Amino acid sequence: MKKNFYKIAVLPGDGIGPEVVGEAVNVLQTVAETAGFHIETNYADVGGVALDKFDEPLPAKTLELCKSSDAVLLGAIGAPQYDTLPSHKRPERGLLGLREGLGLFANLRPAKVYPSLVQASSVKKELIEGIDIFIVRELTGGIYFGKPRGFDDQNGGRGFNTMMYDKNEVERIARVAFDAAQKRSKKVTSVDKANVLEVSQFWRKIVLQVAGDYPDVQLNHMYVDNCAMQLIRWPKQFDVILTGNLFGDILSDEASMLTGSLGMLPSASVGSETAMYEPVHGSAPDITGQNIANPIATIASIAMMLKYSFDRNKEAEAIETAINRILLKGYRTKDIASDGTQVVSTKEMGKLVSEQVHLLLSK
Ligand code: IPM
Ligand code: MG
Repeated sequence: MKKNFYKIAVLPGDGIGPEVVGEAVNVLQTVAETAGFHIETNYADVGGVALDKFDEPLPAKTLELCKSSDAVLLGAIGAPQYDTLPSHKRPERGLLGLREGLGLFANLRPAKVYPSLVQASSVKKELIEGIDIFIVRELTGGIYFGKPRGFDDQNGGRGFNTMMYDKNEVERIARVAFDAAQKRSKKVTSVDKANVLEVSQFWRKIVLQVAGDYPDVQLNHMYVDNCAMQLIRWPKQFDVILTGNLFGDILSDEASMLTGSLGMLPSASVGSETAMYEPVHGSAPDITGQNIANPIATIASIAMMLKYSFDRNKEAEAIETAINRILLKGYRTKDIASDGTQVVSTKEMGKLVSEQVHLLLSK
């Protein structure tokens, strides 16, 4: 039996975070009212706003709230005024702390091209039409978390980090990728730097072992530099991309540009506890407060929440269809506008999608 009451922790964060999250929560409210379930939203601070108020990027009560919720919706994190602070006092620490604290080891970043948006990409139309890539990025290990890390003062000083993966970490993320591939085109490309790094050679070995349990899924390995090139050369060759934390960070930004705008891409971070949903884009301080940010990535993250955390596929699809229809009608936020389209604000875009979702679900 599906639940009909969900507690959502809402963390708007910095920059355009509150604007895009506002629209996404409205869409979720519309879905809940129309589909007949209830949501309770509880707001908390993380990132720069939390540093301003509490002098720490992830207050304990924010993490507690997330742990006691059914899902977390995050806006964006980061603001230029903190760029010179030590890492533990930076807004990004808040996001990394959430990932670690909630055990969110798998980051799922789908990159699909909406048919009406092929013009918005800087890559040729025929190369990107119909692409449907699913990036599975390891999120709580690798060089982001490896120890030792830090600075020392020897020989004029140095900074260092450690890229490290153990068997369990590679195995569980590989399983997420193979499970996803089984429901899709049954192809996994594992991306590493095994021609140089031992950590990657180990990664390959474990991925190969896991592949043995999925005889119906085709596996290939690719070096990360080649993958970065292939994504632009022939993106249609990819189905599921399985990769580590740092490579996944870079490749998912690259993949987003195939789809036209970073403002379009949702993501889910899942693990053993409460899952977290957030747009792939950052806090965009240059356009904050202007009501021009694209809320679609965050709204599409709500669709992922409905699907992965609440097992509500019908409602998730309604959101995706609604976004598609609004784009087909020619409505665009500034980042994806082109000749002959109608530019709308953040709020207008949110309202248009909400109305469309209501229509679709009340049928
Ligand atoms: C992302 C972001 C984060 C990351 C930053 C904000 C810490 O770039 O989610 O891709 O590097 O993981
Ligand atoms: Mg990134």
